[in-house]
Amino acid sequence: MTTSKDNPEKCTQWDKQTLVAHDCHDERHHGAVTMPMYQNSLFTFPTHEAFYEALDAPLQHHLYTRGNNPTVNELECRLALLEGGESARCFASGMAAISASILSAVKAGDHVICVEYIYWPIRDFLENYLRRFGVETTFVHGENMAAIEAAVKPNTTLIFLESPTSMTFRLQDLQACAELAKRIGATTIIDNTWASPIYQNPLQLGIDLVVHSLTKYVGGHSDIIGGVIIGSKERLDRIGKEEFWLLGGIMTPQVASLAMRGLRTLPLRMEKLQQNGLQVASFLEGLPFVERVNHPGLTSHPQHELAERQQSGYGSLFSFEAALSAEQIQQWADGLDMFRIGLSWGGYESLVQVWRNTCEEDGKTLRLVRLYIGLEDPNLLIEDMKRSFARIGLNCSEK
Ligand SMILES: Cc1ncc(COP(=O)(O)O)c(C=O)c1O
Repeated sequence: MTTSKDNPEKCTQWDKQTLVAHDCHDERHHGAVTMPMYQNSLFTFPTHEAFYEALDAPLQHHLYTRGNNPTVNELECRLALLEGGESARCFASGMAAISASILSAVKAGDHVICVEYIYWPIRDFLENYLRRFGVETTFVHGENMAAIEAAVKPNTTLIFLESPTSMTFRLQDLQACAELAKRIGATTIIDNTWASPIYQNPLQLGIDLVVHSLTKYVGGHSDIIGGVIIGSKERLDRIGKEEFWLLGGIMTPQVASLAMRGLRTLPLRMEKLQQNGLQVASFLEGLPFVERVNHPGLTSHPQHELAERQQSGYGSLFSFEAALSAEQIQQWADGLDMFRIGLSWGGYESLVQVWRNTCEEDGKTLRLVRLYIGLEDPNLLIEDMKRSFARIGLNCSEK
């Protein structure tokens, strides 16, 4: 049998596009061109001796799909290779993966440092849910390394990162965070959904665990919910035995099959999405009433240099701030024809979201509009924006 799982040495020599486009031939699947979907809950054995052997080590055998399923395992293997990790486990959602990864790193009495303006259910999980179990969290502006250092307490066991944050698009210096965590004996986890495994590989910068919502770029078609944790074999074996096996928030084989289909075109889609996103962000930056475009790929972004150093490309989700009233901006967003109003991102379709909450930065209140630029012609998206600005009386001639 030569799946990518069983022949990782061969696959690590491949570039990312080949890794996702090419299956190793597995003779047990009759030459099927993709990994078939193993739609079964249990696996059976010829003898009790073989059955007991599997029972004694359920995560090393195909025994029960809550532990191992070949279709899900193939996806896990490919995601681990793409991120440069030794091992991966897929979950029912990004949040299932994220909460499992956090639970694997804390116990009652511990302290967590987490970046401000993180995806809000993660904040809720840390701030409210884990407080019930005696875990305390300090939220810090992650672009400020001194603030992260200052937040360290003797009982800090976890630093949770998201770089860039997916509403304010602020970065953390990942290597510096990893070094700090190693000095104090804490674990580092990063939500790497925005950059995808194509444009940022934090394990190579010393981060311990990478999590993704596969719902976004990896799925790529707005039709699945899934998540993954990637890291060392030692950490993932522990998560496998505890949060994965005991909490049971696993990914189903159907979802794994769809995620694998999404993965085939991930590098191609990311390249086009990056181009489209930068074109639209640059257009907005040139408008007289736009105050700031929060896109790390723009040279005007205060952390552009850091982004160039620790990422190899850019996602197409970004936000902007305009000198307009809340009513005006909502009217503009509602007037767009080519953007749908919605919560998620990472699919083929462009989305807009006017953030209801404000956030504070350097003593300034920010009112953000988040855009996800999809695979449509960016010139048409820009024309649509101009039309909607004109409807609220704004002229889009450049600054
Ligand atoms: C940055 C980020 N991380 C994690 C998640 C959670 O992923 P899921 O919805 O797959 O649970 C989301 C969802 O929107 C997200 O935007």
